[in-house]
Amino acid sequence: MKDADDRSLRLAGMSVIVVENAAEVCRLAADHVEAAIRSALAACGRAVLGLATGATPEAVYGRLADRHEAGALSFRDVTTYNLDEYYPISPIDPRSYRSYMHRHLFGRVDLAPDRAHVLDGTVPEGFAAEHAAEFDRWIQADGGLDFQLLGIGRNGHIGFNEPTDLPVAESLRLPTRLVELHPVTRADAVREFGSIEAVIPRALTMGVGTILSARSILSLATGPRKAEAVAAALTGPMTSAVPASLLQSAADRVIWIIDEPAAGLLPGG
Ligand code: F6R
Repeated sequence: MKDADDRSLRLAGMSVIVVENAAEVCRLAADHVEAAIRSALAACGRAVLGLATGATPEAVYGRLADRHEAGALSFRDVTTYNLDEYYPISPIDPRSYRSYMHRHLFGRVDLAPDRAHVLDGTVPEGFAAEHAAEFDRWIQADGGLDFQLLGIGRNGHIGFNEPTDLPVAESLRLPTRLVELHPVTRADAVREFGSIEAVIPRALTMGVGTILSARSILSLATGPRKAEAVAAALTGPMTSAVPASLLQSAADRVIWIIDEPAAGLLPGG
């Protein structure tokens, strides 16, 4: 699944594949998602995937949906859990992640609607903690995540687990919950919301602990704007100030696929 001119590195125990550009990242990532589905299906007849939204995976979903439409890939025995959702937001709001997933994947493949789980941005606030806990329980009841797809924020966030000063041991156990978005995340969300005032400042997010419990994790990063966070996650210490660095604690289950611009601050980059 790798071309001769890709670069493979091992950083903090994690496999890192560096390819030329974002299109290559997405092509290779789609191969990995497909392989994860096939190996889980072969092992136990079903696959449980954790999915990400944002700009980075759009073309990954495009490729997977194309493969489905070509008759080469089925989601019939797949269950999905998305990383996050703005709060509060209606699922029919085009800026919701539920709506993003319908556009990019769910609406194009044969995934059962009741097995495509996205945190509910309409739960009453007093019920949000119970809803988040239920999300984690459902993942467990489904046998856990076979595979988790991740992007990384410019501030090093994964899901919407934002930088904090918590002790690492505490961050590693964080469950799914309601969070405040970091100023950098809000600034980046202007792309979807049009203005900083319009950005919804809170979200429900899968916890670091939930993410790290996945049996394999694929983290994607593209473009020079991600180079600093990528270097901190891969070559810096494990710290809650860079949530993606916490992936080092599951190093042998983590693969990064990044493009040359995102790898710009890595050794030999
Ligand atoms: C999205 C998510 C976020 C994004 C990250 C990168 O579900 O959990 O962590 O993966 O903010 O976003 P993009 O790909 O838009 O740069």
